[in-house]
Amino acid sequence: MKSHVALMAALSVALVGPAAAQTKDANAEFEKFRAEMEESSPAELFEARGEELWKAKRGPNKVSLAESCDLGQGLGNVEGAYVRTPRYFADADAVMDIERRLVWCMVEKQGFKFEDIAKKPFQGANDNNAPDITNLVTYVASGSRNMKFDMPLHDAKVRDAFETGKAMAAYRAGPYDFSCNTCHGTDGKRIRMQNLPNLATSEGAIRGVQGWPGYRMTGGVMLTSQWRMNDCFRQQRFPEPKYASQAVTNLIAYMTGNANGQLYKGPGIKR
Ligand code: HEC
Repeated sequence: MKSHVALMAALSVALVGPAAAQTKDANAEFEKFRAEMEESSPAELFEARGEELWKAKRGPNKVSLAESCDLGQGLGNVEGAYVRTPRYFADADAVMDIERRLVWCMVEKQGFKFEDIAKKPFQGANDNNAPDITNLVTYVASGSRNMKFDMPLHDAKVRDAFETGKAMAAYRAGPYDFSCNTCHGTDGKRIRMQNLPNLATSEGAIRGVQGWPGYRMTGGVMLTSQWRMNDCFRQQRFPEPKYASQAVTNLIAYMTGNANGQLYKGPGIKR
């Protein structure tokens, strides 16, 4: 890890330069760095913690998720669950992404209180550890490494979530009248040297979902797709969405649906 820290420091210097001409170099540097890091990915640490949590008898009901939670692939089976969500869960009568489903299982099966999980669902820059829910998402996502996205778009309820997510991405509001598409609806947009993926295309959508959950070098924290959505609501000057809400699932459904058929490489690294 030591050498990672040094590399990160060097890289962040390379990345914050103001000149647009540096963008290409910085991107190339980052790609090289990512390739190196992914060989001994820090995400593995979070996967391992998540696996322990998945198997441990926890909560007021003292049951494990492994024996009580169905992620759509049969009780306790994590394989392929990440790339096949969002999906419809009849027991909850809702379309859910993985994070939302895990929260549902923690509440319904293990007896945790939603309010307690929602109090601090994402790792902050000053937190030493990622929240349990992030570790769990990371473990479950690792069960889909090198599988293709295969969200069940043929299911009418999933299709509905996808269409709602698509409409949300185009919805302009807030003090700047921004929509997601203002920043992510055309090719080649960039802000502060970050290339912004066009989420309407298959190519852009896979970039939007690839590498999440991801170890973010900025701050050295592990974060999920749900966090990414929250942070983009902030970019958009929208109020923060309620944690694990249907709205966030819909946006994830829109992106995942557009990325269907492409390979998911597992939990990754983000700048
Ligand atoms: C004001 C511009 C802006 C708006 C509006 C915006 N985003 Fe973003 N988005 C960004 C920036 C900047 C980044 C890159 C941040 C980074 O890499 O640190 C980003 C990153 C992302 C990513 C991750 C891309 C990757 O490479 O992993 C996704 C997915 C995403 N946004 C989706 C959305 C969605 C969905 C909405 C609407 C709810 C939205 N964004 C609204 C600016 C915006």
